[in-house]
Amino acid sequence: MHTVISLADLRPTRLSFAGTVGLVPTMGYLHEGHLSLIHRAREECDHVVVSIFVNPTQFGPKEDLAKYPRDLERDSKLIEPYTDLLWTPTAEIMYPQGYQTWVEVDAITQLLEGAMRPGHFKGVTTIVAKLFNIVQPHKAYFGQKDAQQAAVIRQMVRDLNFPVEIVVCPIVRELDGLAMSSRNVYLDPEQRKAATVLYRSLDQAKEAYENGERDADQLRQVLKDVLASEPLAQMQYVSCADYDTLKELAVVEGKALLSMAVYFGKTRLIDNFVLE
Ligand code: PAJ
Repeated sequence: MHTVISLADLRPTRLSFAGTVGLVPTMGYLHEGHLSLIHRAREECDHVVVSIFVNPTQFGPKEDLAKYPRDLERDSKLIEPYTDLLWTPTAEIMYPQGYQTWVEVDAITQLLEGAMRPGHFKGVTTIVAKLFNIVQPHKAYFGQKDAQQAAVIRQMVRDLNFPVEIVVCPIVRELDGLAMSSRNVYLDPEQRKAATVLYRSLDQAKEAYENGERDADQLRQVLKDVLASEPLAQMQYVSCADYDTLKELAVVEGKALLSMAVYFGKTRLIDNFVLE
């Protein structure tokens, strides 16, 4: 595995790769969810490039940029067997002094996470566009864990004609159902136990759907009721939306996305489930 920081070092290594290149963009503190993307890239591409960059522009002023967990040494060891190139740029490299160009996707970023985290997706699409331009991958791998992020990036790739195929991989969960996330380390033991309520609520809504419930309000109510049964969980939103547009539904007819954001103390967790 080559490990590089600067663009001057990245470019010749990238150019030395013959065949297909798969990119897995991450912010590090890697877990099995990230590894599942790397494994998929390994299966499908001749070369695997992983980027680790805690992108400051996608964090709000009151969010956890400064305390976002980092452990480059551990990350590097974890991915070494499956990765050809690890790129860990600095903020100065990605946003040098005088930086002033942004990539913004419109309607789909105004909903759900975008509504709760203004500016978040502008930071995400800008950095991902830059990563695509620099690495020039044939395929790029994203997790269904961040369902809206994947939808926004698919939209950006369509709209801006990026010659890259977006592959979205399933959510990897802990044994008790909690979706793996770098932010799970913020939870204290009590909150960690309580956090299983996200998956339980999705599971019950799924069961209602499988038993024939198609009224989106009823499905949202199942999510709310289960979340309300856990005193440590503070719901921020629940949603039952069209899978592609992310607009809230009245009735579930085609593919739909159940999703939610829930606070445990100061820690904000998201989870989702696709109905099809
Ligand atoms: P990060 O949160 O590090 O996640 C990197 C990728 O791993 C994302 O595509 C995310 O959806 C995926 N992922 C995280 N947890 C997962 C899980 N439990 N199962 C499956 N996939 C999972 O998402 C970002 O970084 C950033 O926004 C980034 C795209 C790198 C741009 O800065």
